[in-house]
Amino acid sequence: MVSPLSLDDLRELIDIFRHRWDPIILVLLADRPRRRKELTQEVRDGSGEHIADGVLSEVLTRLQTDGMIVKDKSGANHVVYRATQAALTTVARLRRISDLDANGPPLRPRLSWPEPPEESTRMTDNPADSDSPLNTEVPHSARVWNYWLGGKDNFAIDREVGDQVKEAFPDIVPIARESRRFLGRAVQFLAGDIGIRQFLDIGTGLPTADNTHEVAQRISPECRIVYVDHDPLVLAHARALLNSHAAGTTDYLQADVRDVTTILAGATRTLDLSQPIAVMMLGILGNVTDYDEARSVVDRLVEAVSPGSYLVINDGTNVINPEARNEATRISIETGFPYIARSPKQIRAYFHAVDLIEPGVVSCSRWRPDHDATPQEVDAFCGVARKR
Ligand SMILES: C[S@@+](CC[C@H](N)C(=O)[O-])C[C@H]1O[C@@H](n2cnc3c(N)ncnc32)[C@H](O)[C@@H]1O
Repeated sequence: MVSPLSLDDLRELIDIFRHRWDPIILVLLADRPRRRKELTQEVRDGSGEHIADGVLSEVLTRLQTDGMIVKDKSGANHVVYRATQAALTTVARLRRISDLDANGPPLRPRLSWPEPPEESTRMTDNPADSDSPLNTEVPHSARVWNYWLGGKDNFAIDREVGDQVKEAFPDIVPIARESRRFLGRAVQFLAGDIGIRQFLDIGTGLPTADNTHEVAQRISPECRIVYVDHDPLVLAHARALLNSHAAGTTDYLQADVRDVTTILAGATRTLDLSQPIAVMMLGILGNVTDYDEARSVVDRLVEAVSPGSYLVINDGTNVINPEARNEATRISIETGFPYIARSPKQIRAYFHAVDLIEPGVVSCSRWRPDHDATPQEVDAFCGVARKR
């Protein structure tokens, strides 16, 4: 019988998955020692992608520091990298969460980047058919959100809970749409009117039309974007998010929003935090069920960024249709993806250390709308503010 993974095992695996290439390089080295050139070649053969020399150096240094690999001289006096016992144990755990055993098919193809599904295909609802260690038994916020936006990257459980919420709170669909439109207008404003060239988008969601980097790089191709999400499915779709314009960069970090230290450390691979950045937290703070903790996350991020940086937040509220919204909150808690709607006053308080720009904290549909008419409010409020 296979023993369950302990919390410590899982923590270690999450650390490995924080970095895009680490699990792939680790699996290759657990197979047999390899030279740098071989690693580059095998990554290319396995995923069709090129791992840049500098990136490979970073990965190898990190894995050596973590005690996962060591450098050896081979017979021909070439330097080879070899997995340690700790790495072999980690790879064995990776194999277990990949639903493979020692006799199963090779792990490497499963750990290469899965292609996003074709537009016309819906994700399989059968976990046995699934290629990744995704939990299809519990709803996930990113997948339910994707369902409300009309996407196809969701499982039966997400649609079931999505429908339950939709029945109790039909406004959720226009809220999802207006939130995405707000994202587009906010990025357009920051990149276009203000000249921001760096974005840290926390709680990215599954790629859809007009992702942050697409809007920003349409205005200025050299924009650099770091995406952060904790959902492994978003990681699996990161290829679409990493599809940067050649003049700019995008990166992806799998991390929990509460882990501000890791997020900032990971962001510095791509962003220069001594220059202004836009910190975007759209539809994510409601997932941090403790309001004080959510405020502390925002405060720590604001503190870390340089003057001239911007904070962009939107989140569900409970003022326009409170009864229905509260029912939606109850369902989210009961079904295991708690999302707590907050009052506009609580959302405004997230901005206490920064200067809100016009029109302040308002319903998403009313934040600098594209047309003159006053749109109908939706029960999600937002704001954009500048750090002095
Ligand atoms: C409602 S979706 C919003 C997606 C996107 N920002 C948008 O506005 O369309 C919330 C996202 O936050 C992510 N998320 C939820 N809780 C999180 C946490 N604790 N840490 C990191 N990401 C989280 C979910 O996986 C999901 O992708």
